[in-house]
Amino acid sequence: MQVVRDVEALKTETSGEGVVGFVPTMGALHEGHLSLIRQAAGLARPVVVSLFVNPTQFGPGEDFARYPRQLDADVEMAAEAGAEVVFAPSVETMYPPGEETPVPPLPEVATRPGLEDAHRPGHFAGVCQVVARLFDLVLPRFAVFGEKDYQQLLVIRAMTVQESDRWPGLEIITGRTIREPDGLAMSSRNAYLDAGQRKQALALSRGLQSAQSAASPGEAETIMLRALETGGLSADYAVVRDAETLLPIESFSRPARGLIAARVGNIRLIDNMGMEV
Ligand code: PAF
Repeated sequence: MQVVRDVEALKTETSGEGVVGFVPTMGALHEGHLSLIRQAAGLARPVVVSLFVNPTQFGPGEDFARYPRQLDADVEMAAEAGAEVVFAPSVETMYPPGEETPVPPLPEVATRPGLEDAHRPGHFAGVCQVVARLFDLVLPRFAVFGEKDYQQLLVIRAMTVQESDRWPGLEIITGRTIREPDGLAMSSRNAYLDAGQRKQALALSRGLQSAQSAASPGEAETIMLRALETGGLSADYAVVRDAETLLPIESFSRPARGLIAARVGNIRLIDNMGMEV
């Protein structure tokens, strides 16, 4: 396992014969990330995992400063899951001072749905900026993104289609959401929850699960909102949307996705599930 911090060393580690698999992360790895790394290892060698808490995707007042950072533990876990290279750059390596790091044109799914785009203005500009820069540096054949960040997955997929000349042959692979035994979706932000909040947080997965038996998107949304209210959470949104465009739908005639963002105290959590047609 090689831990590299600069672009030259990364190029040395990735310029061999193999096909590069890539798992971009912000570190604080958990079983959800490890399953993405294992998935990448089943497709490609070498597997590169990036650990970089990207400042440009956090808004003012968000948790950039307190986001958990644990490099040594992350390196060990990534290696055990099958990574050959950990890329842990500094902010200066990712965004060289005096050079512009362009934000690619944002696809519609990053600007129209009124979900993370509306509640975290500037977030997807930062995500696309850092992911595009990482793709330029790592040049992966496969990049694995978790379904837990469902809108992000669709945004990256759409950006990759839009910029297909820039990263020829790059395939975005979907990793399923890994859950705790009681249903809570794994997330680095779960580390912020105290015991009471951890219980309250179950309202997201339980609300989504109950909503799966609804007859209409409207009924599903009512069920999810009620679950959040009962758990004492405050909802940013609890919606059922077209699974591809994330735009509103009237009926379950097309694949649909339930998506929730809610706050337990000042901790913001997201989750989503497919809604059966
Ligand atoms: O999902 C994440 O952890 C981040 O948004 C990503 C894709 C690593 C970009 O910083």
